[in-house]
Amino acid sequence: MNLRPGHPTDSLHTVGLQISPSTLSSDFAILAEECRRVSSADWLHVDVMDNHFVPNLTLGLPVVESMLKHVEQPIDCHLMIEDPDRWAPAYAEAGAGSVTFHVEAAHAPIRLAREIRHQNARAGMALKPATPVEPYAEMLTEIDMLLIMTVEPGFGGQKFLDIVVPKIQRARELISGQDIDVWLQVDGGVSEDTIGICAEAGADVFVAGSAVFNAENPNDAITKLRQLATAAQSNL
Ligand code: DX5
Ligand code: ZN
Repeated sequence: MNLRPGHPTDSLHTVGLQISPSTLSSDFAILAEECRRVSSADWLHVDVMDNHFVPNLTLGLPVVESMLKHVEQPIDCHLMIEDPDRWAPAYAEAGAGSVTFHVEAAHAPIRLAREIRHQNARAGMALKPATPVEPYAEMLTEIDMLLIMTVEPGFGGQKFLDIVVPKIQRARELISGQDIDVWLQVDGGVSEDTIGICAEAGADVFVAGSAVFNAENPNDAITKLRQLATAAQSNL
């Protein structure tokens, strides 16, 4: 059996809180080196943007394939692209541990999640800030992670949208109510000031770009974020 980290059937799904630094805030010219600066990260969050679904252009499958050869951590691909039905399975096939598509862009999200899982990756589904979670309650059993965006996707370094916090809480209730093991990821403006709010609301996977890569010591920043999230979770 394939036991690489991130496989849907391995023991990773029993872990607690995780930090996934967004490489969008790293120096792309020295990407592998930048990834080594976050050696304590649970995942590497890779933001794929196509300049259509979002007004920004980053990188695609060839770069992810290269990263997979040169980095230690499992890769958490966040696809901010149109037509993920066509493009997302290839990221899973290439070896990304987790592949997240936006539900706003997917034509057949259930079929797509099944295809990603079939390629031995965890299937993630992302919601933009104004997309409600309730219509997707029944399909949570089809995914391994729900990503609640806490900024409008497209750029790093934006301000955390507090308005999304009640949706994180409702998503956690929907997951707990079905007794399923779906990770709840937050992405956008996550920092020392906001990670506690997200953890208290029920998030357990935290993407942080600028808060990690702009720190003098990114591993120290990860440790601090982990401590703050753990402390907030223990208040529950
Ligand atoms: C935004 C991306 C995020 C972003 C996070 O569209 O999906 O992953 O890079 O960056 P910060 O943590 O700086 O908001
Ligand atoms: Zn992202």
